[in-house]
Amino acid sequence: MNLEDLKTLTASATAEIQSADSADTLEALRVAYLGRKGKLPEIMASLKEVAPEDRPAFGQGANRFKVAVSEALETRKAALGTTAAPAGALDVTRPGDAPPLGGNHPIRQIIARVTEVFDRIGFTVATGPDIDTVFNNFDALNTPADHPSRDPQDTFYLEDGTLMRCHTSPVQVRYMLNNPPPVRIIAPGRAYRRDTPDATHSANFHQVEGLYVAENVSMADLKGDLTYFAREILGPGVKTRFRPHFFPFTEPSVEVDFTCHVCKGKGCRVCKNSGWIEIAGAGMVDPHVFNAVGYDPEAVTGYAFGMGLERIAMILLEIDDIRRLYDNDVRFLRQFA
Ligand code: DAH
Repeated sequence: MNLEDLKTLTASATAEIQSADSADTLEALRVAYLGRKGKLPEIMASLKEVAPEDRPAFGQGANRFKVAVSEALETRKAALGTTAAPAGALDVTRPGDAPPLGGNHPIRQIIARVTEVFDRIGFTVATGPDIDTVFNNFDALNTPADHPSRDPQDTFYLEDGTLMRCHTSPVQVRYMLNNPPPVRIIAPGRAYRRDTPDATHSANFHQVEGLYVAENVSMADLKGDLTYFAREILGPGVKTRFRPHFFPFTEPSVEVDFTCHVCKGKGCRVCKNSGWIEIAGAGMVDPHVFNAVGYDPEAVTGYAFGMGLERIAMILLEIDDIRRLYDNDVRFLRQFA
């Protein structure tokens, strides 16, 4: 072995060590190059065959080989130590699993949209509890003692005489009892009725209530605001229709229809050939309601409305069965997230 061979060997040995992929390989290379029967003793033994004048240079070369190989082994050992964890150990350097992202339920999306549309014309959101009093849910809303909606066949009563509110209208009462006029609120939330579930009924559903009370509020405000709402939600071409109706808490009362989103008013299966879809109940707040909450019916007037949110969700998202909104089947819900 001459000096050239020694240089070549130093280069190939360090390269080999740098590409070693495990601690075991590294140990085998250490033995092969520096071990008792390895390359280093072999190099030292060949020193006596080198011409005397070349020996100092060869000796230095041998030393360089030893230092370079030792350093390469140390460096590689440190590098492997940080990436290759022993089997079964926790590898804190591995990227984590990204948790699957959830999405808003369709009803939440509709509430957000309705809230945003009314926010633009000055309505804030008011809330009330799902369990409320007979006074807030019926009495203050001018509901006669023999009105069928009070029947335990229709409304869930609790043992202490309270009830699961059967509409969001009690939020009107709560708000007016606690705030002087003027009032401009919407109240989205749950309502409960003893209905047998089918494609369009659920014992637990959502409504949004609206209430605007001030001086000189009129039916024209109601028509204008609900028509604005209809066009924001269903598009600029939508028409509205107000039909006379009866609610205990409004006088006069109306039912509000929007032109059918499917046939645009021509008549189809969805609107039962009428061209219209019933969306809301509404009317001018009855003076009895103002008296019940301590407002002066001579000083203020107001309009109120209430509508079902499942119905709007089903129209906008083309859902054919209300029960799908409550099955919590993520394969279904994911489409809308
Ligand atoms: N509370 C009524 C219902 O559940 C809806 C309603 C009708 C609310 C007329 C109102 C209203 O505020 O003025 O069917």
